[in-house]
Amino acid sequence: MSVYQATASAPVNIACIKYWGKRDTKLILPTNSSLSVTLDQDHLRSTTTSRADASFEKDRLWLNGVEEEIKEGGRLATCIAEMKRLRRAVEEKDASQPKISSYHVHISSRNNFPTAAGLASSASGFAALVSSLAALYQLPASPSELSIIARQGSGSACRSLFGGFVAWQMGSAPDGSDSLAVEVAPREHWPDIHALICVVSDDKKGTSSTAGMQRTVETSALLQHRIAHVVPQRMAAISAAIQARDFDAFARITMQDSNQFHAVALDTDPPIFYMNDVSRAIIALVVEYNRVSVASDGKLKAAYTYDAGPNAVIYAPKENMREIVELIVKYFPQPEPFKDPFGLFGAAGVEGK
Ligand code: PMV
Repeated sequence: MSVYQATASAPVNIACIKYWGKRDTKLILPTNSSLSVTLDQDHLRSTTTSRADASFEKDRLWLNGVEEEIKEGGRLATCIAEMKRLRRAVEEKDASQPKISSYHVHISSRNNFPTAAGLASSASGFAALVSSLAALYQLPASPSELSIIARQGSGSACRSLFGGFVAWQMGSAPDGSDSLAVEVAPREHWPDIHALICVVSDDKKGTSSTAGMQRTVETSALLQHRIAHVVPQRMAAISAAIQARDFDAFARITMQDSNQFHAVALDTDPPIFYMNDVSRAIIALVVEYNRVSVASDGKLKAAYTYDAGPNAVIYAPKENMREIVELIVKYFPQPEPFKDPFGLFGAAGVEGK
């Protein structure tokens, strides 16, 4: 008897040009294009196993061992239905293919990081779900084609189908067929960029991205300005900076875009505050660190960015990371000693601790 089962994993991505706002809430079509870096270490990944079997009575899903309801017409159900549709097309084309598209699936997904830590677990989660079903169904689909389906689970998930530097092109087709992720540059193009994630709070966020976006689209005049006059230029400029491995331009645009995203949240009625005092203190530290560096050799050394929560992500060339971690540890004493998974600090560990 054949066993139809496959496992795939996908990493978290962190946007430099933020996606914020939907023009179609069902298909998850954005009001602007966005661009992110997919984190390539093994620390922040979702791994998903899917199994199809004639004996299963319904589709079921477990997240970190706990069963989640698959709501009819909801995002999970949509992604599963779309993947079954692609499988059906394969079966219709090739009669020798087993007819597994009619079987129910059981899906088990695990994050190797705390789901509630305010990191983009829905991005890696839906990307891994779609990838594991694509492997189960042996689909000939490209990552961009799969990104169209992952997008309908969680918008930012479409960017986790690629590694490296990834753009989500907003597209213009009403059916969403051109709203997909494309690779801007593979990770190997610029391996020197590293990301430091500072978990400021692991509380669940107050306003979900779905509710927040809707309110911003309905009430913020600044969002309309951003969509029409800011993001298109920034997408082009940051893509050029990535191609040229120009950290200065990359950092400037990344910080400006994080600032504008949080300004747009503040411009929402009632306003949304995602950052807290510690988030703002980390911004002040990075600004000061860059100011000193610009004064001495004209170059930015680090870029902060914040998603819909208080946690900081700091992008920097690897050579600066040790200094940055030392600064963070010095000004923000840690409850536990800093773990050094990449051996950045050698045997000496982190100074100032
Ligand atoms: O995909 P969602 O609904 O989790 O929205 C993500 C929104 C941001 O993380 C704030 C920005 C982004 O582009 O990832």
